[in-house]
Formats: sequence, structure tokens, C-alpha cells
Amino acid sequence: MPANKVSMAQLVSLATTAADVLEQLRLKFAKPHPLKVAPRFATTYVAELCKLDKKQMRYLIDRHNLPPGTKVEGSKAKEFSLLETIQWARALGDFPTRPEGKSGKVFCVCNYKGGVAKTTTTVGLGQALTLRAQKVLIVDLDGQATATQLCGLSPEQHVQPHDTIMPLIAGDQPDLRYAVQPTYWENLSLIPASSALLGAEFSLPAKAISDRDFRFWEVLRKGLEPLLEEYDVILLDTSPSLSHLVISAMFAADGLLMPCPPESLDFASSVQFWGIFSELMRTLPDADSKAFDFVSIVYTKVQSSDISRLTKSWMKEAYGGYINGIEIPDSAAARLASAQLKTIYDTPKPEGSAEAHRRYKEPSDRLADFAIEQLELGWS
Ligand SMILES: Nc1ncnc2c1ncn2[C@@H]1O[C@H](COP(=O)(O)OP(=O)(O)OP(=O)(O)O)[C@@H](O)[C@H]1O
Ligand SMILES: [Mg+2]
Repeated sequence: MPANKVSMAQLVSLATTAADVLEQLRLKFAKPHPLKVAPRFATTYVAELCKLDKKQMRYLIDRHNLPPGTKVEGSKAKEFSLLETIQWARALGDFPTRPEGKSGKVFCVCNYKGGVAKTTTTVGLGQALTLRAQKVLIVDLDGQATATQLCGLSPEQHVQPHDTIMPLIAGDQPDLRYAVQPTYWENLSLIPASSALLGAEFSLPAKAISDRDFRFWEVLRKGLEPLLEEYDVILLDTSPSLSHLVISAMFAADGLLMPCPPESLDFASSVQFWGIFSELMRTLPDADSKAFDFVSIVYTKVQSSDISRLTKSWMKEAYGGYINGIEIPDSAAARLASAQLKTIYDTPKPEGSAEAHRRYKEPSDRLADFAIEQLELGWS
């Protein structure tokens, strides 16, 4: 073979060398399992969450038998663990409780385009909903397993194929109860992913060919059914595609949330996404009987530029009321958190600019409030 060609054998060798280097890196930085710990929350954070002032908090501690917080060393200030913060939110926050007999709601975060902040949105929203007194399950449906990593697991070290949705996909398990794991974050459970999920794109179509009665688009909904009694919200993080798994996730969902940066290529891709999805709907038997509680587009990674403003006006024209009006900015605070495998909720105390932190957290909170409104509507 001529010297400037790259052979398959060379590619195999490249893969092996790269995996070795990654493994060395991992060993160097290996921390105990899980990789993350939950943060602690300042009194002002808890007060703001429960819409109280600090004076009211002092008075309510005894009245409601609530945790008083722990003194921060070398200061008069107090702080609360995540569990204590959730106790306050449950007791005094203005958040809904799932009515007896009502099922949890499944929200699918999807977009054909990569890198639009699907995973960041899913995990941040999951954490924000636990702080709003909800019990949340995140299902990682992407072989890249970024949500799994943000939830404190290393897909290579901690996740075996049988820990993922794969046994359900293979028909070896009747539902997904076997795969639920607690995480480092109170009230946030996870069904993790690993690269084993790539197998779903072979096994689902193969099964559909060999068994004409097999409905691949119903697999996830059936798998999640018993978990709807246990969780208030189930969030599905999908891969950047319209694969069999993504279609099944969209079918399993009560609500669809599409993060989309207001940039022309992202907009164009989103138009393609809805086009292909509606074409597909026409081909799947009984698909037209499916209805969603909501379908909502959230602007993510928004830059303050004229181009971005112009694209927003096109998107408004194209999507009208499906745009929920929340704008999550392109933010140094997001990048700083993500560089440490964290979200904005993992860092309640700003680590960089306090203003950048506030400008990113405020719309992220509004997105969680939007999800809470959808839950209330869905349960009412
Ligand atoms: N608001 C933001 N500002 C700046 N960077 C962001 C923001 N939100 C997410 N990012 C960064 O953009 C990158 C992609 O985010 P993320 O992984 O959430 O996207 P995704 O849509 O899930 O990607 P994929 O399609 O590969 O699954 C990450 O590095 C993330 O830290
Ligand atoms: Mg992702």
C-alpha cells in the first residue's frame, strides 16, 4: 500500500493506542465511584427556592421541624446539604405534588443536530426539578453517554451493557426496572448508557424484519410503564439523530422539548427534523393517534448578535407558539461547569463571574418552572 494511504490495520492500531492513552489518563485521575459529590447550598439559595426571606426561615425551622443548616467554618453563615435543601423545598416550596393515582410524565429532549445542548438541558433540568420537590429519572439513550458522565459515572469503567437499556431492547427484560440506579444527586436516578447502545440500531430494525408484529416505536414506552408509578418525571436524553431509538423515545414521551440555538444552520436542521418526523408518522401504523401534552422549542446557546436576532424572527415565524420564549445564553458559566463535568446546579456558588452565572442560571430556572407548569397541567 502507498505510504500516504491509511490502511484498516493502521486504524485498528490507532484505536488501540488512543484507548490505552485514555485508560492511562483515567487511572491518573481515577476517583472513587461515583465520580461526583452533590454541592452544598447557601441559606440565600434555599430562601430564594422557597420564596422566603432569611428571617422567615429562622422562624419556620421549629414550626415545620426543618433542618437548620450547618455553620460554615470561619463564618456566621449557614449552608444546607442537597437533601436538606430538598426537605425545605418539599415542605415550603410552592411546587406540585403528583396526585394519588396519577402517573409520572415522560419528557423527551431531542434534536437531530449535535451539540445543541440536549444533554446539558436534560441533566440541568433533572437537577432543577429535584430542587422543585420532584422525583426524577434520567434515561440516557445516547451511546456517547454524556448524561451518564454528568450523572457521575464513567461509561467505560462503571457501565456494563446489562446496566443500560440493551437487555430491554434485546427482549431479555420485560421492562426497565432492572436498570435504574441512584446517583450522587438525591432524588435523581439514572439508567446509564455506554457505546453498547449502538447495537440498538441493528437489533431494532432486525427484529422488525423478522417479526411483523414487532413495533419498535413502542419499546421504550412499554419499558418505562412500571416506572411511571415511581417517578414524577422521566427525562429522555437522545442522540443527535432520528434513529429507531430516538423515534421510540419520542413515542414514549408525553412532552417533547427541543433545544435549538437560533443560528441558521441549527434552524435549517430543526426544520428537516420535523419534516422527517412527520413523514415517518405517516408510515407507522396507528402513529396518528399519538398526541403530546406539549411540544416546545427552547433557544439554547443564544449569542447576542444581529444574526441571532434575525434567526429568532425566522424561527418565530416558522414555529409560532411552539417556541417557549426562554433563552439560555451561550455562556462562559456553562463552559466552566461543563469543563469539570458539572452543570450550573452542581455549582450553586459561582466559580467564575457571578454575573455570568446569574445570567445562565436564571433562564435555566425558568425552563424548570416551565416543566413544572407542564406537570401541573398534565396532572390537573
Ligand atoms: N449555554 C451554553 N453556553 C455555552 N456552551 C454550552 C451551553 N450549553 C451547552 N454548552 C456546551 O456545548 C457542548 C454540547 O453540549 P451538549 O453535550 O449538552 O449538547 P448535545 O446536544 O447533547 O450534544 P450531542 O448531540 O453530541 O449529544 C458542551 O461542551 C456543552 O458544555
Ligand atoms: Mg448529548
